[in-house]
Amino acid sequence: MLGCVNEVGCEVRRAQEWTLIENSEVTSTNLVAAKLPVWHAVRADTQTAGRGRFQRAWVSDAGGLWLSAVVPVETNSPAWRMLPLAAGVAVCDALRANGAKQLRLRWPNDILVGDRKLAGLLIDQFQPGLAVVGVGINVCNQPEARDGRLKGHVARLADLVSAVPSLHELARHVLVALHAVWQEVRNAGGETLLPRVNALWHLPRAVRLDLDGAQVTGAFAGVDACGRLQLQRPDGKIKFYEPQDVRLLRDLD
Ligand code: BTN
Repeated sequence: MLGCVNEVGCEVRRAQEWTLIENSEVTSTNLVAAKLPVWHAVRADTQTAGRGRFQRAWVSDAGGLWLSAVVPVETNSPAWRMLPLAAGVAVCDALRANGAKQLRLRWPNDILVGDRKLAGLLIDQFQPGLAVVGVGINVCNQPEARDGRLKGHVARLADLVSAVPSLHELARHVLVALHAVWQEVRNAGGETLLPRVNALWHLPRAVRLDLDGAQVTGAFAGVDACGRLQLQRPDGKIKFYEPQDVRLLRDLD
């Protein structure tokens, strides 16, 4: 791996196919990655305006992994709909490679241990043909101390494994896994991905969907080949939902 410090003080390193830019502080790594070319990524020690899904703020204190990666994708292609799922699987692969066990995905791509959130993903598109995959993983940071509302709801990698990787090493693992999973989906479609995603979701499970106001309950039955969520209603009929229409999926068990 090559490393150099550029004129604005960030470190630029190679990680297999990736060029990884590491900063001490940025507003949001997704916003920095917005201007980067494909297979470039940015990591920051802290974010001053970390962003979560649905315009929520994301606590981004020192000790967590705040990483954004630019991947190729054709907007509205079948692969595009698979990107959130592929990114979730890749992050689980990287976490497992670092010793984390009993991970599960909550649709579409929250990564949980039990009922506590270990990692979240935010996918943005700023340039045609490119998507930014933003990954936030609680590692040694203290999210509950920063925001009391998170108390009892978050997990940290440091509490799950005996050997905690450096943030640089963890970023590298995430990027390498993301490249592998995403290339597989682009080359071969989502057939091999879906069974992995569905296994990580622990199906079927009773859920309530928050459709940004309206609530609907049923049994979560995984996703179809288009990346749509399948919900079996009490009358046995399957209803389909687009990822962007579901604000939150809550387990009822
Ligand atoms: C969520 O679960 O709501 C998504 C959280 C995504 C947080 C990550 S941290 C790195 C990247 N930069 C951001 O501003 N957000 C994502």
